[in-house]
Parts: sequence; C-alpha cells; structure tokens
Amino acid sequence: MSTDLVVSDLVAGYGDAQVLHGVSFTVREGEVCAILGPNGAGKTTLLRALSGMVKARGTITLGGAALTGRPPDAVARLGVAHVPEGRGTFMPLTVEENLRLGAYVRRGPSVEEDLERVHQYFPVLKKRLKQAAGSLSGGEQQMLALGRALMLRPRLLLLDEPSLGLAPLVTRELFRIVRTINEEERTTVVVVEQNAHLALGIAQQAHVLETGRIVLSGTAAQIQADEQVAQSYLGYRV
Ligand SMILES: Nc1ncnc2c1ncn2[C@@H]1O[C@H](COP(=O)(O)OP(=O)(O)OP(=O)(O)O)[C@@H](O)[C@H]1O
Ligand SMILES: [Mg+2]
Repeated sequence: MSTDLVVSDLVAGYGDAQVLHGVSFTVREGEVCAILGPNGAGKTTLLRALSGMVKARGTITLGGAALTGRPPDAVARLGVAHVPEGRGTFMPLTVEENLRLGAYVRRGPSVEEDLERVHQYFPVLKKRLKQAAGSLSGGEQQMLALGRALMLRPRLLLLDEPSLGLAPLVTRELFRIVRTINEEERTTVVVVEQNAHLALGIAQQAHVLETGRIVLSGTAAQIQADEQVAQSYLGYRV
C-alpha cells in the first residue's frame, strides 16, 4: 500500500491567530521533503499540525488514512513520529528509558529488536544507556531524540530543525544517519531546517514557506538553483 503523505488546504494556528493559510503538498512514499523558510513562517506549526499537536482544518492523509482531527497519540499509532524543535527528550530519565518510551504506543514486534536497531544507527547511545538524558551532549541528545522516534517504527518521520545548536561535524553525521534510515527503511521524511544546503542534500522535493503559505516548490535541485532562495537561505549558513 502506498504511504504517500497528502496535505491539502491546511489551515492552523493558535486561538484566533491563524498561522497556516491553506498549505498543500504531497510527499511520495519513501521520499525526503525539505521545508525551508524564514523564522516565524509557520514551519514548526506545520509539523505540529501533521502530528496532531495543533488543531488544523483541511485534510492530511497518510497512505489514505485521514490524520486530520486525531489526537497526537492516535497519529503516532498510525506511524507518524515527530522529533520536535528542542528535541523533547525527558532529561531526568535515562537514555534507555527514553528509547523505550518511544515504543509505547506501538504494538507488534519486539521492543528489544528495535533497541538493537537503534544501537546500530547510534552506537554512541548504546554506551550511555544508563546515563540520564540531561547529561548527554547536544549532539547525543539529538541522536537520542531521533532514536526514540525510530522506536515507533515510523512510516513518516517529522524532523524540526535537527541541526539547531549543533557543530557542523555532528550535524553532517546526523543527516548522514537520517539519509541511511530513509534509504534502508523507506521511511518518508519531512525535515524543517535552517541549514538549507544540508536539507536539500538529502531531499528529493522542497517547499519554501513564507507567512503560512508555500511560495515556492520544486525538486531539491531546482530549489538549490533558485536565485531568490540562494540569497535568502543558502548564503549564510553553509
Ligand atoms: N504556542 C503558540 N502560541 C501562539 N502563537 C504561536 C505559538 N507557537 C508559535 N506561534 C506563532 O506562530 C507563528 C509561526 O511560528 P512557528 O514556530 O510555526 O514558525 P517557524 O517557521 O517554525 O519559525 P522558526 O524558524 O523561528 O522556528 C509565529 O508568529 C509564532 O509567534
Ligand atoms: Mg520552528
């Protein structure tokens, strides 16, 4: 069955403040889609709408199943894992406890098997299983957040600014792992990222969001070649 993500006419916001004004796009199963755009454009709000954390109108379907209007745990059960801005790990809990929490909404195959899989992607976490998440370095915490999301066996992975606050070397390693996960598990990925070069490097399609609307869409190569995008998003953070 196809697990395309189809978003159409999405409207969302906070109270009376509407942030997304009719956002539509499709991500084909197994592809990586990059969402670029300036601060305050609504990128985080878009990911929150996709994972049910903010109420939205319009339609969101994943493999034909409607996600719109469902609470976050129900969306997670349908295979959507969200790694939020700021990572969302539970600092006082150990690495292992955080990872096991990632599997809690999921039924089916063994959690131990999935822990082993996460250890393979992130050997650094395996060495720190009993350590409190709060004592990890920034890079390790982002890896934990991603590892925890993988414990859900997601069909769709939503990543919000994974590079935030990380050194370039760690960021590149993280993106390498995201690409490997995407290739090996065929997980569909929507990544919001300030570092447009990195995001476009692993994406097939990209969209530029400005004040709650998609103003430009294309293949990663097309967006990379766009003058306006180059000036706005590619110039400074290479
Ligand atoms: N919890 C909230 N309550 C009220 N308004 C919010 C809330 N979160 C975000 N907003 C507003 O929604 C708009 C879009 O914010 P959002 O966080 O989605 O932007 P963004 O594109 O992710 O920005 P950034 O690049 O800075 O992360 C902003 O004007 C912001 O002030
Ligand atoms: Mg944001």
